[in-house]
Amino acid sequence: MNIISLILCLVVLTLLFPLPSNSADPDPLQDFCVADLSASEAVNGFPCKPVSKATSDDFFFDGLSKKGNTSNVFGAKVTSANVLTFPGLNTLGLSMNRVDFARGGLNPPHWHPRASESGVVIKGKLLVGFVTTRNVYYSKVLSAGQMFVIPRGLVHFQLNVGEGKALAFTAFNSHLPGSAVLPLNLFASTPLVPDQVLTKAFQVDEDVINGIRSKFGV
Ligand SMILES: *[C@@H]1O[C@H](CO)[C@@H](O)[C@H](O)[C@H]1NC(C)=O
Repeated sequence: MNIISLILCLVVLTLLFPLPSNSADPDPLQDFCVADLSASEAVNGFPCKPVSKATSDDFFFDGLSKKGNTSNVFGAKVTSANVLTFPGLNTLGLSMNRVDFARGGLNPPHWHPRASESGVVIKGKLLVGFVTTRNVYYSKVLSAGQMFVIPRGLVHFQLNVGEGKALAFTAFNSHLPGSAVLPLNLFASTPLVPDQVLTKAFQVDEDVINGIRSKFGV
């Protein structure tokens, strides 16, 4: 076999090979790997604590049973069960949030760089919406028991449009989906995004930018 046919063979084999899966986190190579959060170095997950040190408590988490405090500018509170709060999730490629809403509360426009999201409304009535990379907006008002899905990386929000409080639970295909909250990203970063960028991006004057920043204590 000459070198040309060898290369052709490799190209054909590569094309025939199944496409990589679209799951967000890689599959684990062991039963579990309870995160050692105190490890100084962590790349793509945390090192495992020794299997002999694992206990039942590593695999159960009580954090989502507690109502989030919605006394903030948005009137909504996200409580996360991800690898940082629930180390048993390490390497398993999934996590959950609890989202509490005061009346009129908003989980503001944000996106998750490492996961798609599904969610179910437990209580109240939520307007759930997302916007695609082509600026198409999809939305629906959901009530208890109804579900939604947010494709990975798209900007989305949930707004309480009911008469009282609302509650939803969400699930992600990453043990640490990450969340970039647009208003905070753009107007309350450290250090600040320069005025020149924001005035040009939003086609407004500096006083408008400063007015927005002041709402977030900046
Ligand atoms: C909720 O948060 C607000 C603002 O941070 C605080 O004043 C209040 O005491 C908190 N309420 C509870 C029940 O923790």
